[in-house]
Amino acid sequence: NTYDFGLVGLGVMGRNFILNVADNGFTAFGNDLDKEKVNALIEEGGDTDKVNADVDASNFVSALSKPRKIMLLVPAGKVVDIVIESLLPHLDEGDIIIDGGNSFFTDTDRREAFLKEKGINFFGAGVSGGAKGARKGPSIMPGGSRDAYQYVKPIFEAVAAKYNGEPCVTYLGPKSAGNYVKMVHNGIEYGLMQLTSEIYDLLKKAGGLTNEEQHKTFAEWNSGRLQSFLVEITSEILTQKDDLTDGDLVDMILDKAKQKGTGKWTSQNAMDLGIPVPTIDIAVSMREISALKDERIKADEIYDRPSPESVVKDTLTSKAEKALYFAFIMAYAQGMHQLADASKEYGYELDLGEIAKIWRAGCIIRAALLADITDAFKAQPDLPNLLLSPSFTEKVKETVAATRELVAYGATNGIPLPGLSNALTYFDAYTSSRLPLNMIQAQRDYFGSHTYERLDREGIFHTEWEK
Ligand code: 6PG
Repeated sequence: NTYDFGLVGLGVMGRNFILNVADNGFTAFGNDLDKEKVNALIEEGGDTDKVNADVDASNFVSALSKPRKIMLLVPAGKVVDIVIESLLPHLDEGDIIIDGGNSFFTDTDRREAFLKEKGINFFGAGVSGGAKGARKGPSIMPGGSRDAYQYVKPIFEAVAAKYNGEPCVTYLGPKSAGNYVKMVHNGIEYGLMQLTSEIYDLLKKAGGLTNEEQHKTFAEWNSGRLQSFLVEITSEILTQKDDLTDGDLVDMILDKAKQKGTGKWTSQNAMDLGIPVPTIDIAVSMREISALKDERIKADEIYDRPSPESVVKDTLTSKAEKALYFAFIMAYAQGMHQLADASKEYGYELDLGEIAKIWRAGCIIRAALLADITDAFKAQPDLPNLLLSPSFTEKVKETVAATRELVAYGATNGIPLPGLSNALTYFDAYTSSRLPLNMIQAQRDYFGSHTYERLDREGIFHTEWEK
């Protein structure tokens, strides 16, 4: 008896993914060094002809049908290399290893090149949707050999989330294309999370909305154009009671956000490539500022802050809905822009319409907006920025005024809205035909003879500036 699919790493994600594979009619075999996890899977799988597992790498590999399709769901970093090394002696040419973790894309390129020499196909396939997604249908972002994709395609298409019946998975491009796309997905995720947290703060401080009122507001938004997984869970979070006190759980959670690095990588790489993604950058910075809790407490004692002027709830929620929609568009616009430029830089040949399409369900950034983004890139595959798409013009024009008002309100009333104000600034800068960077060029030439170009004639100029 040989199994269709192998999976190494039987943590929550791995176990759920394998059970999902089995639900869809494929046989699957798991592997983990931890005997307890192996036994737990065998027990949960029921019929060992369909789901089985073993701690031993050799037994695991020989249980699989060829070409073997082995997915790794282990922590990114060294563990991936260790697992690959442990599998290698048992593999045959043409076998396929799929890294389903959030590996850094250059690690994927290195592993792909190393394994190619040995005749092994390697995929970096980002998997989004958390534990529930893995079990019921994630969005999967695979990159690697186009020829080898045919072997994993039927399994991935069966297990992936469906949007109107279409699977949220497609072959994205060569080498690390899949991990790169997942990295940017996470960068956008950071942006959307920061933005929703600011709106939550604003509704509380400016409108005095209770958690219960906010729960209803977010739920209402989730049935409109803001429909998205993150708005939905925000609504749910706001109604969760605390087991340890009489209050709401959200009020008891320490305001220090952790991070595993994917958002930071998105920003770092955007900087390397010279692509502006300020809404993602600020979301990373805010997690860093949040970590400085002790300093924030001290600084809060030193500096006064205005007590927020109260705003009528209905007016506020209507403006907040617009501002959140506006800022979500900016976050997606920046992420898509990064993908477009990175695709050229790394030769991924990404199809942005297809990427938006597989993000419509299953993943953390799934949102009604992604259907519109899909259409925008399908209509114009080389669209440099969503803001230039005719289908987005009205959406932006209709929501920018409310965003301005709330950003101004936040500044006057001492409520930090870094993501929101930054999204607005991005918009104002991107849509300015003339920016004051002529002054920067003049300064560079003044102190360093760095030269400048002119508006009115071709060529490179330098001036002996008069002191
Ligand atoms: C997903 C998520 C997931 C990520 C978490 C945590 O798409 O399912 O992006 O892959 O690990 O969101 O990320 P941070 O710990 O960096 O917040």
